[in-house]
Amino acid sequence: MRCSAPRADAALPQGSAAPPVAAGFRIGPVLVSNPFLLAPLSGYSDAAMRLIAREEGAGFAFTEMISCIAYLHDSRRTLQRAAWLPEEKPFGLQLMGADADLMRRAAEKAQRDGADLLDINMGCPARRIVRAESGSALMRSPESAERIMRATVASVDIPVTVKLRSGWSREIGDARAVAEAAEAAGIAAITVHGRTQTQKFAGKADWEVIQAVKERVRIPVIGNGDVETAVEAVARMRGAGCDGVMIGRGAIGRPWLFAASLALLTTGMLPEPPGGEALLRLMLRHLGYLQRLYPAGQGLLRFRKHCAAYLRGWPQSKALRAHLHTLCDPAAVEAALVGYFSGGHASA
Ligand SMILES: Cc1cc2nc3c(=O)[nH]c(=O)nc-3n(C[C@H](O)[C@H](O)[C@H](O)COP(=O)(O)O)c2cc1C
Repeated sequence: MRCSAPRADAALPQGSAAPPVAAGFRIGPVLVSNPFLLAPLSGYSDAAMRLIAREEGAGFAFTEMISCIAYLHDSRRTLQRAAWLPEEKPFGLQLMGADADLMRRAAEKAQRDGADLLDINMGCPARRIVRAESGSALMRSPESAERIMRATVASVDIPVTVKLRSGWSREIGDARAVAEAAEAAGIAAITVHGRTQTQKFAGKADWEVIQAVKERVRIPVIGNGDVETAVEAVARMRGAGCDGVMIGRGAIGRPWLFAASLALLTTGMLPEPPGGEALLRLMLRHLGYLQRLYPAGQGLLRFRKHCAAYLRGWPQSKALRAHLHTLCDPAAVEAALVGYFSGGHASA
């Protein structure tokens, strides 16, 4: 494996030279094999992306948010979102809802369907979700949040976690108080995205709130927000003293970020990103998993989004992407990628 020292311009914060600890951590009985987790990402984190992320070093991965109502109605699209591949186990299924009884029933179903861990979405800021009093709306409704957490925890044997924002706003629904209530309700771990609902995705994630949450509870705390590089992942984890770091947007098209973060944490060395041949193999594996999960046309549509991310920064990749968009046959997509990476267009 080719390695390099971390770039000087991406230095770790002062006082962060503590001896690295490789071990992951447990959420109840579930082993998170290392501290770098794939975030739930609607439209992306299906079983194919999760399996790729796990193979590329993620310690754990979550489904995108699953509406408890649609799940209980066996909506075809929702069941597709909740589908998993045996090789990715253990995995977490994220539930979203506003009604404690529906969440309880959905949790029971998810456990029966094979989920190893359940996560309650208390972070989605989308207007449609908030209007339904679910997602991040739960940050401003402590009673409703507590009912949902207690009902979900009581209904299953598998661990239940929550994913919070740093608050509803700066003034309302502070993550520290919500985290304490979550721990008291039997929640097994907490992820905090360091932005308020009112911020949506604007501004910078506040990792001081994540550190403050970690200091308030005894259960594992996973920090999340704006981690784009392995250096940032390790620095954020050490800076906030949290148990893990969840990576979302930064891992789309760059799943090797997980292994790189782990290598940096444990050895202090930073592996090189994959060259052309390794990237080609990775992309074809991803395409193969999508074909296992979806009818051919649908799998290809999903692959296009990931392709754009994988090919970011590669020479003449815009033309390749445009060409891929004209292809309707996975074998033709494979041939085009092989041609690109072996035909001298890409510098491996
Ligand atoms: C396209 C997209 C889809 C997302 N879907 C979900 C979701 O289904 N459930 C959830 O809890 N968070 C979701 N999030 C939020 C991410 O999990 C994460 O908290 C956020 O992107 C900040 O982390 P990052 O800076 O590493 O991306 C989504 C974010 C994006 C950009």
